[in-house]
Amino acid sequence: MIFVKTEREIDLMREPCAIVRDTLAAVGAAVRPGVSTAELDKIAREYIRARGAEPSCLGYCGYPASICASVNGVVVHGIPSEEIVLKEGDIVSIDLCAYKNGFHGDGARTFAVGAIDAEKQKLLRVTEECFWKGIEHLRAGTPLYDIGAAVQAHAEANGFSVVRAYVGHGIGREMHEDPSVPNYGKRGTGVRLRAGTVICVEPMIGAGVRDVCVDADNWTARMADGRPAAHYENTVVVREDGVEILTI
Ligand code: MF3
Ligand code: CO
Repeated sequence: MIFVKTEREIDLMREPCAIVRDTLAAVGAAVRPGVSTAELDKIAREYIRARGAEPSCLGYCGYPASICASVNGVVVHGIPSEEIVLKEGDIVSIDLCAYKNGFHGDGARTFAVGAIDAEKQKLLRVTEECFWKGIEHLRAGTPLYDIGAAVQAHAEANGFSVVRAYVGHGIGREMHEDPSVPNYGKRGTGVRLRAGTVICVEPMIGAGVRDVCVDADNWTARMADGRPAAHYENTVVVREDGVEILTI
């Protein structure tokens, strides 16, 4: 069941979403060769709490950290660790949620660690572009799969693949609400989104194959071919005449 938010509920979501935006910036500023993903997790947890929010991921279905930090061939749900130390040429996707005012905000960015090669540069650029393509024509009445169709077309036109195993989602009082928002699909199909629906649009794009394998930790999702992958996500309100992005 898709909950359409009232203006008052959307107003309550602004603060957790702003905290997500600012936490992503704080973590991004700390990304450099030599930093461990556990250190990035600590920065995020302390920052989120200093703003009077809670990191929604911590304890979610047993998840042991406040952020997901996914390096190179890990596409999502990388568990932060003292042993995972970033080095020049890596890319790291940071995905995090904050809970405040009874609502969640959710966002992700992929950062370069120092200088990265041309393929990774293109992957980061195209993945963010996929987000913008996905929301370009989004407004009240848009069929849900128009988002994924636009994301998929842009990724594949650039020789990249769309991860199928993970999708975007509605968000509000719960971190994951209806509807699921795939990054693939057929234009003109799916439920017509109503004004006031709040969703997370989050392309997860691979440089090689689309298939993913999950590690024995039951979280870390790696591209099956080990090629790099990127993730870019924002929490977005569907409006009568377009969208309002809450995490930018
Ligand atoms: N923020 C992620 C999303 O986009 C969820 C992370 S899973 C968690 O849905 F367990 F880490 F919370
Ligand atoms: Co999300």
